Formats: sequence, structure tokens, C-alpha cells
Amino acid sequence: MKTDVQNPRKAGEQVNLKGDTLIIRGGNPLRGVVDVRGAKNLATKAMVAALLGETPSILRDVPDISDVGVVRGLLEVHGVVVTNGETAGEIHLNPTDVETAHFAQVDALASSSRIPILFCGPLLHRLGEAFIPDLGGCRIGDRPIDFHLDALRAFGAVVDKSYEGIHLTAPDGLKGADIHLPYPSVGATEQVLLTAVRATGTTELRNAAIEPEIMDLIAILQKMGAIISVEPNRVILIEGVDRLTGFTHRSLFDRNEAASWATAALVTHGDIFVAGAKQSELMTFLNVFRKVGGGFDIDEDGIRFYHPGGELKPVTIETDVHPGFMTDWQQPLVVALTQANGVSVVHETVYENRFGFTEALNEMGANIVVHPRGLPNTPRRVARRDFEQAAVITGPTPLHGANILVPDLRGGFSHVIAALSADGVSRVSNVDLIRRGYEHFVDKLAGLGADFDVED
Ligand code: EPZ
Repeated sequence: MKTDVQNPRKAGEQVNLKGDTLIIRGGNPLRGVVDVRGAKNLATKAMVAALLGETPSILRDVPDISDVGVVRGLLEVHGVVVTNGETAGEIHLNPTDVETAHFAQVDALASSSRIPILFCGPLLHRLGEAFIPDLGGCRIGDRPIDFHLDALRAFGAVVDKSYEGIHLTAPDGLKGADIHLPYPSVGATEQVLLTAVRATGTTELRNAAIEPEIMDLIAILQKMGAIISVEPNRVILIEGVDRLTGFTHRSLFDRNEAASWATAALVTHGDIFVAGAKQSELMTFLNVFRKVGGGFDIDEDGIRFYHPGGELKPVTIETDVHPGFMTDWQQPLVVALTQANGVSVVHETVYENRFGFTEALNEMGANIVVHPRGLPNTPRRVARRDFEQAAVITGPTPLHGANILVPDLRGGFSHVIAALSADGVSRVSNVDLIRRGYEHFVDKLAGLGADFDVED
């Protein structure tokens, strides 16, 4: 069932939605419909996979976000012709004439994205060399790439690090390898997949990530002619093939964006139909959403998320790799937990610094205590790495407006929904960071009845 709600803006009112600062007046419940398009963390990787094909590819449901723009630019400087298809969200990629790009071109485009590291395998296969600028860390941790470089060396790549970045060659070509990841890293798993499919011989990958986005990338590679089998216990076997063709594929929906709007409905006492959301990829999130007190109705073409009334309940959760509770879901959830009646604990086990966004929430009146090394003697299923963190959230605490500088993509979304539910006015700047991963973010807020102005 879709809910139709009148947008408080006058119909047809032209609003500047491009500015980098939102002046938000809290109190309006978000109500209406949002379309969630393809996953940022699949579509960008699928675009890189197109480099491996000897014929053109078509990718559908590509979100209009800056991270996609970064990958499009990197493909184009390497000679891939990228054009928009007939329908919105469809792109055509023609990798027939791949060529070496100059370092300065790649460096200028790479920005703070992590995706450039995934160009290594495909460029080594196509050109025999690759150059990756030094990938900056970001606010949620130093984002190392040691698993990636170790995997590439296992395939036979020669990795030269310089102050500018990383230059890779493969003098003897790339050969299948036995790779055991120290941690089920999503990026490192993608690195291995994108390199192994055209390597000579078979690759065995152990302790692999198995997120839905990984499975969708494997589906794309299989369409291209790859031979990949997903075995039990996080083992993936890849038999290298001589040739891959292009693919036609519709991206998996963005489960991070879906979970973010779901939590926005809860935090603002609203009711949002997330068109495109599917239950199977959100099962763990839906369980927690229900335990906190959220309501949801699952439809064939999306999921309706709403605040059913009554108080929100505290929970204790631990982020984990799939099928656990995803690390990208905890930031919006923490905002909802500031309104829960009791003490909640969120244990972040994937990144070493992913609670920085809570400082702004405390300035708005929340009561969140972050424990940098996790909680003492918290019972755990398996030994965890030593950089974990835990946030203890005591609610309910009314939130009031504040001046906020968005720190990162998911933390920024949390700041916006906190401001939307707060009493008074908030000034949220650096909103472009949110546009990196949420398509038409400000337009969607306006369509859901949020009360705000935009400043440059
Ligand atoms: C992907 O990042 C996503 N980004 C992240 O989403 C997501 O949070 C993460 O997977 C986990 O699901 C993209 O797909 C672009 P990892 P990735 O390699 O691949 C450590 C968002 O908001 N590690 O699984 O970088 C790493 O530091 C973003 O959309 C190494 O130590 O994640 C982290 O602690 C945020 N060495 C852990 O592993 C390495 O070589 C998991 O990282 C690689 C990773």
C-alpha cells in the first residue's frame, strides 16, 4: 500500500535544491513514497567489471550519485565510451578501445572514492599495467588496502608504491591463486573476483565476503562468461577463462538507502513507502526494526515503513558481515535509539572509528557514550579484532536543533534525520557528502514533507 501525502511546499514552487547547507525546521513527520534505485555499492563495481568485457555492456537502475560519476570519469580516461541509455538510470559502456591513462588524470578523478583500487585487475588484464592514486582514508577508519595488494601479488602482479600512489604491472601475466582473506572484506573479495575471472588457471578464495552486492557482481560476471562457484563456508572458486563479453544487468536495489529511509520514518513518526526495497536482502534489518518498535508492510514492489505509535524499545546489537546487522545501518539506527525508552548498546565490529557522528547527536541533547575499545567482557560469539567500539545510548532524550557539519555519508544521513525530528532549527552543512550515496537526496526530503531551506 502506498501512502499519498501532500507536500507542504506549494505545487510547482521552484526550490534551489543544490546548495550544500540545509536549514532544517524539525517536527514534520516524513510521509510519502521514495524510489530507491540500484545499490551504490554494486553499480559502481559493475561499471568496473564492464572493463573486462570485449563487447559493450548495459547497466540499468544506476543511481544518479557522485560516486557513479567518479567511476564514469575513470572509465572514460581509460578510453571506455560511457553513454546514457533511453530510460533513466540506464548506461551503456563500450570498452572496445581501452587505453592507459596518465596518472594526473586518474588522480584528479579518484577523489576520496575507494573504487579506483578495483580497477587494478581489469586494467592489468587489458593493458598489462595499472596506476591507482593513493586512496585517502576517511572518517570511519583508515580504510587500508593491504588485503587488496596481497591478493594482487598472489596473482603475480608487481606492486610499486610511490608517494603518488601505486603502479602495478604483470610481467608474467596473472595466474590463479589460493587466497585466504584475514577478514571477509567486501572490497578485497571484489578485487579477487575481478582479477581471477581472466587469470590463467583456478583461484580458490577463502573467508570471502558474501554480501548481496557480491552475489550480484558474481551474477554479472557469470553473464559475461566467467565460471564462479560459491561454495559453503565462505569459499569461492573461480576458473579463469580466455574471454569475457559484455553484460546486460539491472542493479540490485540499495539496501543501505532503503534502511536509511525506513529509520527516517521511525525517527520522524512518519510513514514512508520505499519503492524497490526487497525483504530478502533486509531480513536482519527488519528484525531489529521490529524489535525497536517500528512497523513495516511488505509489498511486491516495495516496503512501507512507519511509526505505529507507542514507545520505542532499546536493543543491543552488534554489527557484522553479511548476514549480520550491516555496519552501514547502525548510524541511522542510533538516532532512533536516542528516542527508545531505556539503554541500548551498539557494538561496531567492522570499522574502527564509526561513532564520530554521535558527537553532534549529543550536542542536540542525546545521551550517547562511546567506548573506544568496546565494552569490557562483553560476551562474543567469536574473538573480534581489537579496534572494536561500542556506543551506549540512553533514551528517551528530546533532541533540539544544532549547527552540524556532516562527517561522512551515513553519519550525515543520521544528522539530517535527527534534525528533522528535533525541536527547533538546525543548520546542516557539507550535505554534498550525503549526495555521494543517496540519489536526489534533497528532492526526496522535499517530497516527503520535510520543512527546510537550502543555502549554497
Ligand atoms: C564496502 O567497503 C562498502 N563500500 C562500505 O560501505 C561497507 O560499509 C563495507 O563494504 C562493509 O560492508 C563500498 O562498497 C564502496 P571492507 P569496503 O573491505 O569494501 C578492513 C558506504 O557507506 N580492511 O569489507 O572498503 C577495513 O578497514 C560504505 O556505502 C583491511 O583491513 O569494506 C574495515 O575495517 C562505508 N584491509 C574492514 O576490513 C583491506 O585491505 C571491512 O572493510 C580492506 C579492508
